[in-house]
Parts: sequence; structure tokens; C-alpha cells
Amino acid sequence: MNQPRDYADLARVDRTHVSLYTDPDVFHDELERIFYRSWVYVAHDSEIPNPGDYKTTFIGLVPVIVSRDLAGEIHVLVNRCMHRGATVCATEKGNARSFTCPYHGWEFGLDGSLAAVAMPRGYNAGEIDKDKLNLVAAARVGSYRGIIFASLLAEPDISLDQKLGGVKEYIDLYMDFSPVGEILVGRSGVNKHLYEGNWKIQVEGSVEGYHAPVTHATAFDVMIRKMGFPANYQDLPLHGIDGGYGNNVLEVYRLPDEAVFKRWPAEFIDLLTQAHGRERAMEVLRTRFNMVLFPNFAILEYQFRVIRPISPERTEVRLYHTTLKDVPAAINTRRVREHEFFYGAAAFGGPDDYAVFDRLGAGYHARMAPWVYLNRGYLSEGTDDHGRRIGGHTQETQQRAPYYEYRRLMARAGA
Ligand code: FES
Ligand SMILES: [Fe+2]
Repeated sequence: MNQPRDYADLARVDRTHVSLYTDPDVFHDELERIFYRSWVYVAHDSEIPNPGDYKTTFIGLVPVIVSRDLAGEIHVLVNRCMHRGATVCATEKGNARSFTCPYHGWEFGLDGSLAAVAMPRGYNAGEIDKDKLNLVAAARVGSYRGIIFASLLAEPDISLDQKLGGVKEYIDLYMDFSPVGEILVGRSGVNKHLYEGNWKIQVEGSVEGYHAPVTHATAFDVMIRKMGFPANYQDLPLHGIDGGYGNNVLEVYRLPDEAVFKRWPAEFIDLLTQAHGRERAMEVLRTRFNMVLFPNFAILEYQFRVIRPISPERTEVRLYHTTLKDVPAAINTRRVREHEFFYGAAAFGGPDDYAVFDRLGAGYHARMAPWVYLNRGYLSEGTDDHGRRIGGHTQETQQRAPYYEYRRLMARAGA
């Protein structure tokens, strides 16, 4: 049993303690109280569109399979053979009728049910109870606009609807970039990054408005000179928003209508207008934002970002490029080109972030300087019409947002 910690003291409203980024006992508590008992992102519908499709991923440290059975129902299953514990599926995605363990050959259905045991005559009557040896299923699975979440060990204390209530309008804006309101995830590639630092560094970093002109000085220079990005970035009237339950939004830009017409071909604007109406189409095209759905998921302009904690000081991040359904191929090609300008191992922006994350990971060993400050704009923070905390886009309202939920979940004793 860990020493109980006062997480409200370690994750204060304007600063966090370095031990939250390095201490194995804290990491253990986070897995038990946040990752295994609240809504965690696992997949998008479009990754497993057909009966028999599956993908493998992780909830915290636990390997899971997200499968679609032959009736079309989605299952989130612990990828751990019920005999002696091997993972029963080793590939990232595919299509199958069942999963067969590589050790002794037990076979499990797409719904996790134990279908067959190899060499069954070696078992005497009463030695195995097949009904109790199905793969463990997540306690709860839910989805919104194709985004699938699961809670592994326990029914979460809030509904998915409640969890997403403060940010649904942004998820809707993201999906309505397609005339049919649907995106396809991962069809146009995945970037994988590893860094030597805690998972919360990427939670904070996915909605970082302050660092961009510094860390990404070269990319910003190109974007301003060649790509029409506003040079007065710092002075733009944009916001960071606390969307509740750890979720947040960073507004990255709002284009004036002339800029929308310059940026997107008329045929594409017409296509969206026919689908959604003029005002909605323009709203979708004007708005650019990053958002985090706490704890492990972010949406940025052209990507789904999945944050996987591996250890207190090691994290994997996957950037799944998103494709718009039912738009001209040239629009999706353009999204790939713009994505790869900034993101990916050889791009202009992303590698800068991961180099900085490694440096944060190193710096957090300096216990003589124990506080990580997230207080920029704290004293001028306001409230918007929906009652959400709001601050300037280069301030830190959006980074403070996850810690309200962090304190709430980590206070749950005994989990
Ligand atoms: S560990 Fe899976 S069949 Fe033995
Ligand atoms: Fe960055």
C-alpha cells in the first residue's frame, strides 16, 4: 500500500509538484484512479468499420483489444489470455474471426468468449469452468461522433454525455469539416513518438499557446512569411477554455471570411454549404483549435493524438492523421501535406516539442526547485457564457483545466 498523498496539495490550482511527473507511487495511483476507472479514449469507429475488424491499444498499462463482432457490436477486451496470461493478439489492427493464444492455443471469440481449449481431454471434469474464462471486458463502453471511450474496471461516476458536455460543440465542429459529418482515422498514416517524460507533459503540451513562437520559431517564420499565418499571433483575440472534467480547448485561429475564401477552394465551400448551410459551413472553416479530452486524448487540426503512459518518465504518443469522408481527394491530400509540414519525425514542428519534453523530464529531477508553474493568466481568468473558465490563448487556463479533474479523481481513496 502506498503512503497516502495529499494530491490537492501536490496539484495546486496554479502549480504542480515535480513528484507528480516522476514518482512511481503517484504513477500507480494515477493508473488505478484515473486510467482504470474513468472514461479513456480507445478508438474511432472508422478504425474498425467491418464485422471482425479489431485494433489493439492500451488503457494505462493494460493491453486491450477493440473489436467489432459479426453482429456489428463493439467490445473492449483485456488482451490477456485467461489461462496463463499471454496477450492473445499481437498485431495493431486486422480482421479475424477469433483470437488464438500463442502459448497453448486457447481461442476467444470477437466478443471475448472462450470458444475452445486446445487438447481438452487433459482437463478432468471440474478443472475448468469455461463460462468464467472469457476475456475480461471493460466495465463500460460509450461513444460520441464515432469516438469510442471505455472505462476498464469500474462504472465511471459520470456519464459520457456529462464528461463531454462542455466541449461537444468543438467535437461537432471538427466532424462537420466533412459534408457527411464523418472522418476516417489512421487511413493516411500514423506518427509515433516516444519521450523520456511523464504523460501529463503531453496533456499540457497539446494545448500550449505560449511556447509556439519560441519552440517553433523556424516553423513560425515560414508560416508567417509563406503561409499567411498572422504575424501578430500574441495579440489575437483567442482563448484557452476549461471545458470541464479535465477537458479543454485552445483556440489557434479564427479566420476572417476573406481568409476562408482564400484558403479553401470555392467548390469545397459550396459542398459544405450544401451539407450544413452557409453559416455553419463558414463557422467550421473559420475555426481552428486544439483540444484535450482528459486523460489520454487530444484532437488537433489534422490529427487524433493518443497519449500512452508507459512508466512515470516514459510516454508514447501516436498522431493518427484524419481524413474527411466524402470530399474531393485534393482536399485530403492537402490536409496530409499541411500535417506533415509540422508533425512527424522529420517535420518542422513536432520534433521540437518532443526535444523539449525530454528536457522537462530531465529538469524535473531537480527536487530543490519543486514547482512547475501554470499560473500565467490565473488572476485575470474569466467565465464565458457557458460558465466555463476562460483566459487568453497564450495564458495557461487550458493547462490548469485538467488538474481540477485530476484532483477530483485522485482524491478517491482506496481505488
Ligand atoms: S497462456 Fe494462453 S493458452 Fe495458455
Ligand atoms: Fe509545440
